[in-house]
Amino acid sequence: FEFDNMSRICTTNARTLGRGLCIITGASKGLGRALAHEAAHLLEPSSVLLLVARSGALLKKLREELQSSIGQQQLEIHCITADLSTKEGVNTTLKVARKQKVLNETDHVLLINNAASLGAISAFESFTDVESVNSYLSLNVSSALALTAGILQMFPARPGLRRSVVNISSTFAQQVSPSWVLYCTGKAARKMMFNVLAEERPDVKVLNYSPGPLDTEMQEEIERVTGIAYHLLPCQESAVKLMKLLLDNEFASGVHLDFFDV
Ligand SMILES: NC(=O)c1ccc[n+]([C@@H]2O[C@H](COP(=O)([O-])OP(=O)(O)OC[C@H]3O[C@@H](n4cnc5c(N)ncnc54)[C@H](OP(=O)(O)O)[C@@H]3O)[C@@H](O)[C@H]2O)c1
Repeated sequence: FEFDNMSRICTTNARTLGRGLCIITGASKGLGRALAHEAAHLLEPSSVLLLVARSGALLKKLREELQSSIGQQQLEIHCITADLSTKEGVNTTLKVARKQKVLNETDHVLLINNAASLGAISAFESFTDVESVNSYLSLNVSSALALTAGILQMFPARPGLRRSVVNISSTFAQQVSPSWVLYCTGKAARKMMFNVLAEERPDVKVLNYSPGPLDTEMQEEIERVTGIAYHLLPCQESAVKLMKLLLDNEFASGVHLDFFDV
């Protein structure tokens, strides 16, 4: 029994995400921040981690935390201060990723499309302003498509290269909720977008992951607007589950998995 236990621990410790280029959008807080902590420990030496969000100061603080817990030599971490609702924000992110391509021979490109916003929770009839609807979709749908397309183009398929794309989804990708038209539409569109990618590119592993109700600023906003308080999970718990799915790598590409079902 003891031997079995020991060997399981050894196997678990040996598992990594490889020598990777890992890009996490929305890494400054909430789930993205927790994902950065988990991924940093699972990437092999000489890997590169790109942290993207608008709050540069929070990203730098996160980088310092990661570097002191992992060691500066182990992992190269770049903070990318960018507004992903804009073309410039997506292009800046791609530009930094392109520099890593030149410098680094990577065996796993992992893109986690986590950044998102809640948007207004309001009656359907209130959404008459095309520009504000476009602005919502720009961050929550368009930027995820353009960024993923850019990264896949930059790192084409080659023997020995694993390419993984994660879409941080929600139960609202599949469940109708009155007054949540922006959020539901955005998450449903993203799910379909990544399903198309999975069909089109069998060599890319695509995962739609619904992380469960999390203790984050987004939930604070939900409670403030709706008055509904959910039982919330610590982000780390959900981040660990997602990392396990990526380590096991047994999911069917394009599948939509919920925290409570895995
Ligand atoms: N919280 C939940 O209960 C829950 C449940 C299901 C699914 N989700 C999904 O999980 C993901 C993370 O949610 P969360 O609760 O951690 O949200 P959060 O606390 O609001 O964090 C959102 C992250 O996205 C970044 N972001 C927002 N707008 C951005 C922009 N224009 N450009 C670049 N980055 C931007 C934020 O950073 P800056 O503000 O610094 O830009 C932040 O790092 C989202 O996809 C969300 O839909 C959350």
